Amino acid sequence: MKEIPDNIVLQTVSEVALKLQKPVYVIGGWVRDIFLDRPSSDIDIVVVGSGIELAALVAERFERRRFLKVYKNFGTAMLNYQNYEIEFVGARKESYREDSRKPIVEDGTLADDIKRRDFTINAMAISLNKKDYGTLIDLYGGMEDLEARIIKTPLDPDVTYSDDPLRMMRAVRFAVQLDFEIEKKSFEAIRNNAHRLSIVSIERVMDEFNKIMLSDTPGKGIRILRSAGLLKHFFPELEALYGVEVMDSKAHKDNFYHTLQVLDKLAQRTNDLWLRWAALLHDIAKPQTKRFDKEAGWTFHGHEFVGQKMVKRIFKRLKLPMNEKMRYVQKLVLLHLRPIALTEEIVTDSALRRLLFEAGEDIDDLMMLCEADITSGNPDKVKRFLANFEMVRTKLRQTEEKDRLRNWQPPLSGEDIMNAFGIPPSKEVGLIKTAIREAILDGEIKNDREEALVLMKEEGKKLGLTFKG
Ligand code: CTP
Repeated sequence: MKEIPDNIVLQTVSEVALKLQKPVYVIGGWVRDIFLDRPSSDIDIVVVGSGIELAALVAERFERRRFLKVYKNFGTAMLNYQNYEIEFVGARKESYREDSRKPIVEDGTLADDIKRRDFTINAMAISLNKKDYGTLIDLYGGMEDLEARIIKTPLDPDVTYSDDPLRMMRAVRFAVQLDFEIEKKSFEAIRNNAHRLSIVSIERVMDEFNKIMLSDTPGKGIRILRSAGLLKHFFPELEALYGVEVMDSKAHKDNFYHTLQVLDKLAQRTNDLWLRWAALLHDIAKPQTKRFDKEAGWTFHGHEFVGQKMVKRIFKRLKLPMNEKMRYVQKLVLLHLRPIALTEEIVTDSALRRLLFEAGEDIDDLMMLCEADITSGNPDKVKRFLANFEMVRTKLRQTEEKDRLRNWQPPLSGEDIMNAFGIPPSKEVGLIKTAIREAILDGEIKNDREEALVLMKEEGKKLGLTFKG
């Protein structure tokens, strides 16, 4: 049996509760993580009495009264101390109605509180009471399941999942985060109750989904989400990638498994959530753009353009940030085929410059995505592709050194052009700016002010403008 480590929070809570004469326990994720050797700074305290009263007294002891957050409606309170986030709750008995997330809550015993929790591994408590400080209370065999690496509900899984359908997502999240197995009976209950995910807010669902995305093997998590029947309820576009069609005995690859493979490969190289999202969505428009051609076989022309548009709709529906994160994912989806095009024998400088210009700061992320996108089973092919990409990297580096296009700023601003011709903001200013940019990208002029000035004069003349100096 593991000793609980000396901990200022637990000791203080214990002393305060003793004064109040109220039984108190640390419970849930912190207890689980102690046994998994994953030290956590989130501490959940449950008291047989008022969580708010206990929290207020602990906050006083820490001289943190001002920082206490009280949620009267839920009977909970939250306190930050050092790097700890401590949540206090009174032991509760909860019951739920079919059509609502709002439970009927009453005061309860520790056992009532434990049995309404999600998983046996999360339903263990440790006593903080003087008489048996440090004793584990494990009413549902959590320890055994922790050792056997099993996700299992304390009650009948149909009851636990229908109390809070988000727990179905949590089961998958813990399975992938901890590399545990979901117990068979639980998995079946999830399959039967999956449709009830629709009563859970999309924010909560996505919170769990993003934890899956940030795990070591997000692809594995998403595969479980699909086989458990959950995925289609919030992410039908991803589900639609699943499957293989055959025509004239030609099959295309299964884009669902391909995507997950890319995602898992990329996850070995980066923890960046949004780069992982770009991997998840890079082929999202393949079902919409799929065609069969007698000569060419299966094609997915334009899936990068359609995909880029879909990113926005998907982010909006899933309530993901509609800011530069979304635009970053859009950009990578749009550009994900471009580096492959640059592996051809003859690559023009113009193509290299254009890619550097369009990808800007994100060029390295794009290259990483493209390398992960190689999922061929043929090792020789993979080797050849990777070598080609190395060549592309070298060429990009050389072009960047020469032309500095990564953070390109036009050598002449709109203001410069307006002053030169004495004109107000107008269509002409835009036309001249574009002509200068295109000439630089095509290598017709150098990326500098002098050559841009010459071109500006020529373009102005074509538009009937008079150069004023
Ligand atoms: N819990 C639950 N049902 C939920 C959410 C939480 O029963 N839908 C219980 C579990 O006992 C859980 C505890 O509340 O251990 C704390 O929840 P939370 O902080 O969300 O999860 P942790 O288990 O602490 O794990 P993590 O910190 O990785 O999210």
